[in-house]
Amino acid sequence: MKRSTISTVTLGSLALGAFLISCTSLPKAQAGQAPTPAQAPTQAPAPTPDPDPDPAPAPTPAPAPAPAPPANTPPKPLVPVAASSVAANPDSYVGEFVTMTGAVETLLTKTSFSVDQDKTKATGKEVLVLAPTLQTQADANGYVTVIGQLIKFDPAEVATKLKGYTIDLSPEDQAKFKGQPVVLATAVINTAGVDIAKKPIPPMNADELALQKIMTKLPPAQAALRKALDGKDLDLIKEQATILKTAFTDTEAFWKAKGNTEATKFAADGKRHAEAILLNIGLANIDAAKTSVTPLGATCASCHGKYRERMDDGTFRIKAGQ
Ligand code: HEC
Repeated sequence: MKRSTISTVTLGSLALGAFLISCTSLPKAQAGQAPTPAQAPTQAPAPTPDPDPDPAPAPTPAPAPAPAPPANTPPKPLVPVAASSVAANPDSYVGEFVTMTGAVETLLTKTSFSVDQDKTKATGKEVLVLAPTLQTQADANGYVTVIGQLIKFDPAEVATKLKGYTIDLSPEDQAKFKGQPVVLATAVINTAGVDIAKKPIPPMNADELALQKIMTKLPPAQAALRKALDGKDLDLIKEQATILKTAFTDTEAFWKAKGNTEATKFAADGKRHAEAILLNIGLANIDAAKTSVTPLGATCASCHGKYRERMDDGTFRIKAGQ
């Protein structure tokens, strides 16, 4: 009796110790500071194995299209900061994505200006802003909130970060701002709450409308095909694979007409996978047909990654320059 009591106490204090360790290893939130890389907890809790309630063979995972994040989503949390703090201590913010508030100091070019903290007087501590998509000039001396990544100005780094943007600063200004903090702005919000760096969303052109008609047939056919494969419904598999084959054939013809050999090949690959499904279904080999589903879906991703562009309103266009 006594023994069991002792062991219970020992177990209890062990559990308490583990609890305390896990509490103390929690990273503390540091208010008002730029986020520092999270420290690895000293006592990582063992991952709880996912109990498998269903021992039956897992069904072919349906690669549900993940909802794409809004365009221009920063890869890290935004750090709110005043232009004066950046000017005083740029090193703390290099590489961070900031929402920087300040007053417009100098309108430099159609896509650039500088900000500082004071509307009325030049403080001599300016932060450069490059906003490739700037639609109208900022209000001289108006307050703005600028969103984007902060780096130290270096034409070579700007070129790698802002593909397709040509720096339009004068050689003198480039020399002046070299090594100084610059925000590569994706948004510039003025005091009226208007983002003056927001690209207008053009209507779809005739090509895009034609391609859209083909594209919208693909996801439902893919979903129906997967279901038919799982249900071993040969007629339905054939029907849906034929829809996919036709849509890929039309996609191939579309890109061929535009003279884009790579996109034509992506579409041809998709068609080939749809044909493989039809062939295997002709042989009543559902397992073999299933092996084409994933590579068929990969052709969508390959082409979209290179030739599809998502607008701020969530609609799609053919990537500019194609
Ligand atoms: C060879 C290139 C290419 C391939 C292959 C391709 N797509 Fe697309 N897709 C595009 C482009 C470009 C757009 C945007 C322009 C448009 O819709 O006209 C688009 C748009 C879409 C859209 C948006 C349509 C809308 O509502 O506006 C969907 C959905 C879509 N594709 C699904 C698919 C699926 C699913 C596959 C594969 C089974 C696929 N696509 C294969 C190029 C391709």
